[in-house]
Amino acid sequence: MASDPTEPSLLVIFGGTGDLARRKLLPALSKLALQGAIAPETQILGVAQNPANNEQNFRALALKSIEGAGLSGPEVARFCEERVHYQPLGDGGEADYRALAERLEALASEHELAPRRTFYLALPTDVLADAIRGLTGAGLNRDKPGGWTRVVVEKPFGHDLESARGLVELMRASFEEEQIFRIDHYLGKETVQNLLAFRFGNSIFEALWNRDRIAAIEIMVAEELGVASRARYYDKSGATRDMVQNHLAQLLALVAMEVPPLMDAESVRYEKAKVLRSVSPLSKSDVVFGQYAGGDIGGSRVDGYHDEDGVPADSRTETFAAMRVYVQNWRWQGVPFYLRTGKRLGRRLTRIGVQFKESPVCMFEKNGVCKVSHNVLTMTLQPDEGFSLYIDVKEPGSIVELKRIPLVFRHSDHFGPLPEAYETLLLDVLRGDQTLFVHSNEVIRSWKVFDPVLALDHQIHPYNSGTFGPQAAEKFAIQDKDLMRSH
Ligand code: BG6
Repeated sequence: MASDPTEPSLLVIFGGTGDLARRKLLPALSKLALQGAIAPETQILGVAQNPANNEQNFRALALKSIEGAGLSGPEVARFCEERVHYQPLGDGGEADYRALAERLEALASEHELAPRRTFYLALPTDVLADAIRGLTGAGLNRDKPGGWTRVVVEKPFGHDLESARGLVELMRASFEEEQIFRIDHYLGKETVQNLLAFRFGNSIFEALWNRDRIAAIEIMVAEELGVASRARYYDKSGATRDMVQNHLAQLLALVAMEVPPLMDAESVRYEKAKVLRSVSPLSKSDVVFGQYAGGDIGGSRVDGYHDEDGVPADSRTETFAAMRVYVQNWRWQGVPFYLRTGKRLGRRLTRIGVQFKESPVCMFEKNGVCKVSHNVLTMTLQPDEGFSLYIDVKEPGSIVELKRIPLVFRHSDHFGPLPEAYETLLLDVLRGDQTLFVHSNEVIRSWKVFDPVLALDHQIHPYNSGTFGPQAAEKFAIQDKDLMRSH
């Protein structure tokens, strides 16, 4: 159901004192409120189990978080004082959810709000089910007359295929699919959406976007960061669950999908699910896993994965994954899609590279060597967002000397700073627009591809921090891998 984000509503954040709320949600909400993108009367209710919290210190925490994100001034202080509230959840029993329901009624009557409610479950996956049951038990899951109820959940959507199915079923028993907003924050990134504009707003590319013209596609999400303080979560997860099953699968689906009939949630999500459904099963030879050893990044020495706090000495968790994926449909049959992601790589860079096929006839030859290379399109999603199309041009003076140069588009040359993914996504939740959210069919299809990969008995290749992963993974890269990794 579409709605107007400038209509006042109530936004309840479970995990209100947690990392996501502090780093992303509270700053994004305050920014939207101060810009007037959401109604000034919209109220935010933080919910958490920590008994030490109360309304006053939650407001202080919200203020600190928002200031930490670079926003300050009297409006920010007023926002926290007037719009931010707190409700303890005790041990999460029935009485606690009844108290929550009463608090929502009280806030609604105090601020004259219609029952428009968003429950943002910024919770670890193991307690998500309890929150869904708690909300349902208190009757908070259903739309109320004159309003709407929405629930937002964060990845990971399950730990494997079976748990994802369980979660989908549990949510389906309590909510309609139209009420559920599954966040993959990559879909909120402006440049990821620009992929759609690039593909479907420029008719010249659609004619080239297939197996006749494209030799290979690489999707790379390289991170400089290690696991930092998240070892407890990460060691049970690894790169496949943490990144590939969700963020890289979504990028793959957006790059490979058919042209949707409309740019709306139903059409886009249907096309993405179809791509994931067409991926052939991966075998051991399609996958390389790695784990970072110590090394140098940007001139500083960093520890290996095993030396990080909280990582077991015998951990075989992959901090790097490279995979070769085939999408078995008419458009992509035979074209390899290389997925690559890892922590502690040479630089932070998310880039998609499309390697086009070479010219069928060599017109520019020197000493028996063909001088024409293939064209490459790189789409950089972060940082330094933009597109580069590499073409061959003649060097002055000679007929056979060709030089490859990029035609470049940089976002920053044309537009101001890009919004944060969470600002875009929160606004879409309040609009009721699910286009940039993941449908349960996509979740299940993606697990069907990547869960079996985890069951294969992989070798874990060590790689030095500051490189682009283990040598064994070099075969899973487009021919111009240097373009993919350079500035
Ligand atoms: C998260 C993963 O979903 O995405 C993290 O859990 C990862 O491990 C992060 O670091 C990367 O996001 P971004 O926006 O920094 O590319």
